[in-house]
Amino acid sequence: MQPMLNIAIRAARAAGDYISRQVNNIPNLQVETKSTNDFVSQVDRQAEARIIEILLKAYPDHSILAEESGTQGESEYQWIIDPLDGTTNFLHGFPHFAVSIALTRKGRLEQAVIYDPMKQELFAASRGEGATLNNRRIRVTSQKTTQSALLGTGFPFRAKQHFPAYLGMFNDFFQSAADVRRAGSAALDLAYVAAGRLDGFWEIGLAPWDMAAGALIIREAGGLVGDFAGNDTYLQTGNIVTANPKLFADMLRRLQPHLTRDLQD
Ligand code: IPD
Ligand code: CA
Ligand code: CA
Repeated sequence: MQPMLNIAIRAARAAGDYISRQVNNIPNLQVETKSTNDFVSQVDRQAEARIIEILLKAYPDHSILAEESGTQGESEYQWIIDPLDGTTNFLHGFPHFAVSIALTRKGRLEQAVIYDPMKQELFAASRGEGATLNNRRIRVTSQKTTQSALLGTGFPFRAKQHFPAYLGMFNDFFQSAADVRRAGSAALDLAYVAAGRLDGFWEIGLAPWDMAAGALIIREAGGLVGDFAGNDTYLQTGNIVTANPKLFADMLRRLQPHLTRDLQD
């Protein structure tokens, strides 16, 4: 295994084990509101600190982009970290959240790990080497259209200006799909697309740390990841659609009529 992936896995497991121990302590946590509907506790912060400590101990020259502490260092290598994706789930004891860690080199995704500490499921990928769940190879589904598909999504609960456009998309997908899931962790949604548990996924307004690891894991599992124009700028725009290549094309086609000006990429 790639040594850098190994270190990422060590960091994800350390943070995940810490988070799962804190589940019994939820009523005692001090929760702050970062912005409307955006919460953080010391669990997010401590988990992030542990991850960064492990990564920088192994690679002191690498740079960091982390949700709770921002950026540090300058290097062609950058670790993109979401220490706890699904904070709202976690704070309610809803056992569906994950640690997400990706490494880019010169802006290209190289390594990725998403760890669900409650189910002890570890999704991982190195560029060019395929994707795994607990060391077994995973692949996206071969579902060709949204007809009868199981799709995942996230609601734009922080960017409510996108509600009308989102509801149009939802209506369209929901009419043709078998069903739609909103499970509350974008990182796990992406991991589930890679593992063939969801046929496809779309969301408006994500941050790079929600998507970076999942995007590489999906690509290594044979899927496509894009913005709403099907291009590669999702890490910048935050708008993401993903599925196997055939379903990806169908999802893009169905998204088009609902794209307002600021959703066009
Ligand atoms: C959130 C989750 C959620 C998505 C939000 C994200 P957080 O991440 O991934 O599913 O809908 O947009 O911000 O705040 O729990 O790390
Ligand atoms: Ca997140
Ligand atoms: Ca988070």
